[in-house]
Amino acid sequence: MKEILDGIKSKTEQATKNPGAKFGALYIYVLVIILAIGIYYVNNLENISRQSVPPVLKDTTVVTDLVLKNAQTIPPIDIKTVSQSTPELLTEGEKIYKTNCSSCHGENGAGGGPGSMGLNPAPRNFTSKDNWKNGTTLSSIYTTLMTGLPPSAMIAYDFLLPRERFAVAHYIRTSFIPTADNDTEADLLALEATYNLSGGLQLPAQIPVKSASFLFVSENQTANAKIDSTIASIKKYQSEIGFETFSKVVKNKKVALSFLSKNSGWKQNESAFVNLVVNNVNQNGFNGSVFNLKNEEWNSLYSLMLKLI
Ligand code: HEC
Repeated sequence: MKEILDGIKSKTEQATKNPGAKFGALYIYVLVIILAIGIYYVNNLENISRQSVPPVLKDTTVVTDLVLKNAQTIPPIDIKTVSQSTPELLTEGEKIYKTNCSSCHGENGAGGGPGSMGLNPAPRNFTSKDNWKNGTTLSSIYTTLMTGLPPSAMIAYDFLLPRERFAVAHYIRTSFIPTADNDTEADLLALEATYNLSGGLQLPAQIPVKSASFLFVSENQTANAKIDSTIASIKKYQSEIGFETFSKVVKNKKVALSFLSKNSGWKQNESAFVNLVVNNVNQNGFNGSVFNLKNEEWNSLYSLMLKLI
């Protein structure tokens, strides 16, 4: 290093004396700088090639579980009746509107409720007839409530009962919309056909998969524990007449008892039991010697099994 620096110094001195040597001196400086950059680059290659901001990958594998729902009966409605506004429907509709809608659409239906802040598009002002997307007829409002207007803040109100959707639609039409459009008979029939309003519906209960698998495992654990304790105390049954047969035909006690406890149809009668055992030999924990059992042996095996399980 010292030699290099001395070299540079003498070259610089030379250069001041001899203008022709100026380029030579400059050349060495440039060389040293390039070398330094090169060494820095090679040493930091890993950091340089790495992005300073790590890329963010969105996790698309997140699966949302089902929600807990009670079984629900949706009563059938007659579209001809419910399409006529009545004082009862309007009272019911007003209640529904105040609980579910006025926060966005405002008490007076002109939009601008406390929940409408910053929403784009803003909640519809029902008092103006401009630019409705689905329209102001009863069936259009019903459809809006069924499907919502994605991606806006107007969600589907499909958790309301059909009658409640009609009630709130009547209320909006009567109270806020100036001269709302009326449905034709075909519009109403189409609505009936789309949502099968006269059919009613029986919706089954639903539980989250997580809870279901927990229940399943814990049910299985209880059954397993029961079988384990039966096997542990099997000596108790030694004096039973079927015990000798049982020891002879069972290849694996735990498999056999689990199989029988899961397929409990055999408890109805002995021939169901015989069928179940001989048709699943080996997988069910019984061995091939069941084919040689005599009637009395089947009888005693069957009555022992009824005691064990
Ligand atoms: C969270 C705020 C919010 C609530 C609560 C809400 N809405 Fe809306 N609603 C909107 C927005 C926003 C729009 C405008 C959407 C658009 O134009 O795309 C809208 C639009 C509508 C429209 C106009 C449909 C059309 O054809 O243009 C109707 C009808 C409507 N809502 C009815 C209701 C009813 C009935 C309720 C209560 C059961 C309700 N909304 C509750 C936000 C809301």
